[in-house]
Amino acid sequence: MTSYRITLLAGDGIGPEITAVARALLETVSASHGFTLSFDEQPVGGAAIDTTGVPLPESTLAACRAADAVLLAAIGSPRFDGLPREQRPESGLLALRSGLGLFANLRPVKIIPALAAASSLRPEVIEGVDLLVVRELIGGIYFGTPKGRVQIDGRERAFNTMVYSDEEVDRIARVGFRLAAERRGRLCSVDKANVLDVSQLWRDRVEAIHSEFPAVELSHMYVDNAAMQLVREPRQFDVLLTGNLFGDILSDEAAMLTGSIGMLPSASLGSQGPGLFEPVHGSAPDIAGQDLANPIAMVLSAAMLLRVGLQQESAATALETAVDRVLAAGCRTGDLLMGEGCTRVGCRAMGDHLLEALGA
Ligand code: IPM
Ligand code: MG
Repeated sequence: MTSYRITLLAGDGIGPEITAVARALLETVSASHGFTLSFDEQPVGGAAIDTTGVPLPESTLAACRAADAVLLAAIGSPRFDGLPREQRPESGLLALRSGLGLFANLRPVKIIPALAAASSLRPEVIEGVDLLVVRELIGGIYFGTPKGRVQIDGRERAFNTMVYSDEEVDRIARVGFRLAAERRGRLCSVDKANVLDVSQLWRDRVEAIHSEFPAVELSHMYVDNAAMQLVREPRQFDVLLTGNLFGDILSDEAAMLTGSIGMLPSASLGSQGPGLFEPVHGSAPDIAGQDLANPIAMVLSAAMLLRVGLQQESAATALETAVDRVLAAGCRTGDLLMGEGCTRVGCRAMGDHLLEALGA
């Protein structure tokens, strides 16, 4: 029987609760689809700082490299806000992305009809929204040098560098074009080419790579306009291609179209080696350990892991169908809008309902 190794990174806050739900579902769905999964749980983020002193221990990175796919819940805790930046949980996540070469971050945003009313936008604006943010993940201003904070003549200055090479743009552009070709064939590249040199290079390279994908319709949009268009008429977008910082901001904005960031999965992929699958939401320390968390983004991340990471399409669909069923039956965690006939459930109970729906 085919067997895959999954490295599980529960991380901080609500991470362990939602990881338990996802693990149980993965065990069940693999058994019913003829493959086995072995799980290796490793510390990352604040959990790793507590036990090892660093946010990404060597042993965790090594376990991830050895896996067929990595499933991460969430990292981050205000307990570490006072530490120098490179010792904080977030630095562990950035080092993990970079250490695994995960340059392509895919964040699909799809309206779930049962939850459409939860959006802060009117139903007729968000109806049918189905877009994908493709964000460059290990370059740009997040990683550019020089960077730092200096004292000059008694004054303080701090700086970062937004930098992309032609190669870095080419490889993420190819991912964007390829995915657009598999979807509705439209790619919108987002930049700030009216002001930034780095964006002009971005635009020039995306234009050049377009010749490899003539069937895809390419457009360009400045990032300020893209932020506006996302709330004005989100249905115009199929695939949005953008750099690290703009993608960070626009993917949160796009996530909110669905009414809850607790619903959205993501995949981070490199040119080889295991992918990393994680919810778009954070560690929600305010509700951690209270059985209030919504495990759905984690479960949908597990589904992406099955589909994109392990090519187990039917098992992935089974998980997604279970989510649809449970939502249609009215199960709602605290972050989701309650409607008529809905029942408030906790994280564990949501997990139980999902397991039941998976068996149905
Ligand atoms: C995200 C997060 C991270 C990022 C943080 C936690 C470092 O906001 O995955 O979008 O900025 O990339
Ligand atoms: Mg973000």
